[in-house]
Amino acid sequence: MQIDLTDEQRLLQDTCRDFAARELTPNAKRWDREHKFPQEAVKKAFELGLGGVAVPEEFGGAGMDNVSYALAIEEISRGCASVGVTLSVNNSLYCDPLVKYGTAEQKERFLKPFARGEKLGCFGLTEPQAGSDAAEQRTVATRKGDVYVVNGTKNWITNGPVADAMVVFTMTDLSKGTKGITAFVVETAAPGFLRQKADEKLGICASPSCTIFFENLEIPASQRLGQEGDGFKIAMGTLDGGRIGIAAQAIGIGRAAFEEARDYSKVRQTFGVPIAQHQAIQFMLADMATELDAARLLTLRAASMKDRGVRHSRESAMAKLYASEAANRVADKALQIHGGMGYSKELDIERHFRDARITEIYEGTSEIQRIVISSALLK
Ligand code: CAA
Repeated sequence: MQIDLTDEQRLLQDTCRDFAARELTPNAKRWDREHKFPQEAVKKAFELGLGGVAVPEEFGGAGMDNVSYALAIEEISRGCASVGVTLSVNNSLYCDPLVKYGTAEQKERFLKPFARGEKLGCFGLTEPQAGSDAAEQRTVATRKGDVYVVNGTKNWITNGPVADAMVVFTMTDLSKGTKGITAFVVETAAPGFLRQKADEKLGICASPSCTIFFENLEIPASQRLGQEGDGFKIAMGTLDGGRIGIAAQAIGIGRAAFEEARDYSKVRQTFGVPIAQHQAIQFMLADMATELDAARLLTLRAASMKDRGVRHSRESAMAKLYASEAANRVADKALQIHGGMGYSKELDIERHFRDARITEIYEGTSEIQRIVISSALLK
């Protein structure tokens, strides 16, 4: 089994690490405080080819693999978790279904500018009553000639306030359950696409999300992704890839917390020695590093299965479940190692602690990942 990175993967990892250290880490605290979407930093990340890392070059992407994508999201999230999820949503949740299901015309208009990073995408699955139970879609699309008329509500839409287009899921036949769900791609500037004010959240405060109302939004039939009724499988398959991105984001957050705790433990003194000399601290650091490495191996395994075209629902769920829970344990220990300073807004630790929490919730809660894993085990 080959677990070494290729030269190309290492180069991307180093490039993203340098970029994060230069452009993200020094500013992330301020963006978080100001709840500011760091548009310029996202633009610079896009200029590095991070709009569509694994999107083929012919469709505007960097043409790399999903292992590279996971490495990139980890490095970016180590600098700023909000920028990490902004990129992850554009790559996995928006571009990926267009690569797989988009027609040539849809790819030209709705994929290329997004994979090139000139525009930003979002993903409209969640509704007020359809979070974990994604099949409970209530947004209805009714066909009228060459268009579908869409009415309904989506919420918690990451990138929603700033995105140029959305991959959106609707019910075209309420009597058919999951087989009545249909996907479309639509511009956010279309009449009837009504964005509400940005959500106020505990963490990832520089990643804007919002509720969106559709009021007689007309979507041309030519913007349907796949056939009527394909939507649920498109959503689930897309999330299999998205969960790799969130696992990588969680590892990036955990690494930031771990590295800051490790460095702090070498300078903070108690009882006449640096706290790194106390076995209590050494054991915490050992556990943190081990969990992060285990999370990365699970994540890269899922990414490499995706690269090989093998079904990876279970492996992505395992990676996302383990990485998100590990990131929270790591952030908690990092805060403990910092003592009172960890609880203070002066340092970044409290932000990592808050940012880590969402990774156990979005793109499927930990409980949903356990459902996905156990149903694969018991098939
Ligand atoms: N790939 C392809 N097909 C799949 C699939 C997958 N990964 N998962 C399920 N399917 C298929 C099944 O095979 C089944 O097909 P048949 O009817 O032909 O047999 C069909 O879909 C229905 O499957 P289930 O019976 O398993 O569906 P369910 O209603 O029980 O739901 C669930 C399964 C796993 C709980 C699902 O609802 C789920 O993943 N929920 C969580 C939703 C989620 O992750 N939301 C995240 C929103 S996006 C977000 O968070 C973005 C952000 O902010 C960053």
